[in-house]
Amino acid sequence: MRTFYIETLGCQMNVLDSELAGSALLRAGLQQADTLADADVILYNTCSVREHAEDKVYSALGRLKNWKQTKPHSILGVIGCMAQKDQKLVFQRAPHVDFVLGPGRLDVLVDTIQQLHSERPRPTKTVCVSLHRPTNKHVDVLESFRQYNPERTIHDVTEPSLVRIMFGCDKFCSYCVVPFVRGPEQSRPPQDILNEVQHLADQGVTQITLIGQTVNSYRHQEGRKQTRLADLLYRLSDIASIEWIDFVTNYPLHIDDDLLQAVRDLPQVSKHLHIPIQSGSDAVLKRMNRNYTATQCREMTDRIYGTIPGATMTSDFIVGFCGETDEDFERTVDLVEYCRFRNSFIFKYSPRPGTRAAELYADDVPEEVKKYRNNHLLEIQIEISRQLATESESE
Ligand code: SAH
Ligand code: SF4
Ligand code: F3S
Repeated sequence: MRTFYIETLGCQMNVLDSELAGSALLRAGLQQADTLADADVILYNTCSVREHAEDKVYSALGRLKNWKQTKPHSILGVIGCMAQKDQKLVFQRAPHVDFVLGPGRLDVLVDTIQQLHSERPRPTKTVCVSLHRPTNKHVDVLESFRQYNPERTIHDVTEPSLVRIMFGCDKFCSYCVVPFVRGPEQSRPPQDILNEVQHLADQGVTQITLIGQTVNSYRHQEGRKQTRLADLLYRLSDIASIEWIDFVTNYPLHIDDDLLQAVRDLPQVSKHLHIPIQSGSDAVLKRMNRNYTATQCREMTDRIYGTIPGATMTSDFIVGFCGETDEDFERTVDLVEYCRFRNSFIFKYSPRPGTRAAELYADDVPEEVKKYRNNHLLEIQIEISRQLATESESE
């Protein structure tokens, strides 16, 4: 067992996890293979946010069947969110996979691989995942979602380094699988984050991206002292060699004035905010369990542009959510036009088994209508992006 290769899908949580997993494997004495076909250990770090993301993984795994036959001593593992969601089902759909490891159990990755290696050529199929999380905020499963943050090797100090400040999510938006696969929301202690960033800075890193599913909900309580994201930004800006700080993803309801002032006042902090809004219809937002209204999003937009000179925003939208009418969709168009995002990522609703939306509401918007709304909203966004680019060129 000499080399490994990690294929990463999904969001920055997975990008960071792959980096951490890769560092752990390097420390265990393996080397990174140049191509997937050369590797002795292949890991698929997967995403479950939409059905399409999962289909991509299963067809890629299908293509690895031959590779596995020609290299019977190799080890194939599925990690990431789909590992937590599908668990043993992965073996049914891809029998040549050797192990399945949830994102809350990366702490046992190296041991698992070493154990399977010792059992070759017929290793025991292994599953290691966190406890199932019901649709509420109970934290009795907390311990099974381990905070994994080993030392890592930075390969490219000219790229921003990802720094996780929060694990999990407690928002339970009705369409979303993330709270189930990533576990309860936990904010890391500020001192741990500062130590990590200092350590990165010592390695030559000058740019950092703080990540969390709702990064601006960051809240750490120690006795009577509470640290919020704004406080963290001030403290991180004191690290002399850090020149640039960014943070994703923001939750609209928690864009508070303290945060906006910190973004305005700290020269290191990026003036660009990614704030997924999802819909401009109050009825749809309510069914999505997003807990805010379109009016609140307009007020937030006014506060952002009013507080931070030159601020830019991007957003995410879901079109064709359960029960979304033409009227509802028009409200989304209105909001996109009002907010003037630099870009929007637009997704067609994809029902996720186990989520409240999949249980409570019918996926009743026809595929052609989803497609039409997706394209239409995209055209509107492209025009806004073009206008903003022209405006900033002429400045
Ligand atoms: N934590 C982030 C987003 C995580 S998922 C946030 O709350 O904003 C990234 C994006 O995928 C979401 O913003 C949403 O637009 C989209 N998404 C999530 N679940 C989806 C689903 N079931 N169908 C379609 N798009 C979905
Ligand atoms: Fe999913 Fe909502 Fe949490 Fe974002 S805030 S990860 S959309 S549940
Ligand atoms: Fe996908 Fe998991 Fe991220 S479901 S979007 S990789 S947290």
